Amino acid sequence: MKGRVAFVTGAAQGIGRACALAMAEAGARLVLADVNQEKLDGVANEVAGCGSEALAVSMNVADAAQVEAAFRKAYERFEKVEILVNNAGITRDHLLVRMKREDWDAVLGVNLTGAYLCTQQALPGMMKQRYGRIVNIASVVARMGNAGQANYIASKAGLIGLTKAVAQEVASRNITVNAVAPGFIATAMTEKLNEQARERLLERVPLGRMGTDRDVAVAVRFLASEQAGYITGHVLDVNGGMYMS
Ligand code: NAI
Repeated sequence: MKGRVAFVTGAAQGIGRACALAMAEAGARLVLADVNQEKLDGVANEVAGCGSEALAVSMNVADAAQVEAAFRKAYERFEKVEILVNNAGITRDHLLVRMKREDWDAVLGVNLTGAYLCTQQALPGMMKQRYGRIVNIASVVARMGNAGQANYIASKAGLIGLTKAVAQEVASRNITVNAVAPGFIATAMTEKLNEQARERLLERVPLGRMGTDRDVAVAVRFLASEQAGYITGHVLDVNGGMYMS
């Protein structure tokens, strides 16, 4: 990955940060995008600590103008984007009967529309340079369902559909598009769960532990690498055996 330019959304913490650092360790230069500029600057320093370069851009993935501006900055600084990791994601869990329209729209907007907007910005350059790697962060629940997360699961299942459709559209340009479906990973997103929910979930994980952001990041780094060039339209489970497809 030496010298490659990777654009990671939701890079300020958790899985996005871990993906950025894993790719920086492999020599990639990073564009770090997130709504949380303060934390983003900290990750940029960590990337520098890995001996690589990072550009931190404040950006809401659900806002087309902000996404466009962020990609413009990325091209100004690095002239290309070869790897895109669509990782930014949120949850607003409720049973469907009680789910407000704003919770539906917010989750679909960030998790699915955000990936559409970023992919659309990244593709023209990738097509021109006839090289690209796109990795979308889906979720195990898109594969198995889960009560109380209809908006989130619709967004993540949509992301898997987006992955397969775009993979077919751009394969002839040597661009691969894959998804990683993490299981139960210890990050701020899962910290909100109470002890009982946590125990119930862990009972369903044959490997008997929560995953780490690093477990996900190394899978993402593999799919983003040159070596993974014959894999496209694939969904890679990183879930401790929680769901076996
Ligand atoms: P997290 O909450 O720790 O990090 C998410 C990051 O995305 C934060 O830095 C946040 O500021 C950023 N973000 C949120 N909305 C944004 C927006 N509109 N524009 C730009 N950035 C935005 O969550 P975590 O766990 O690291 O999640 C990363 C991805 O992995 C998400 O897509 C999530 O759905 C997915 N995932 C997480 C799992 C878990 O167990 N933690 C399991 C399966 C999937």
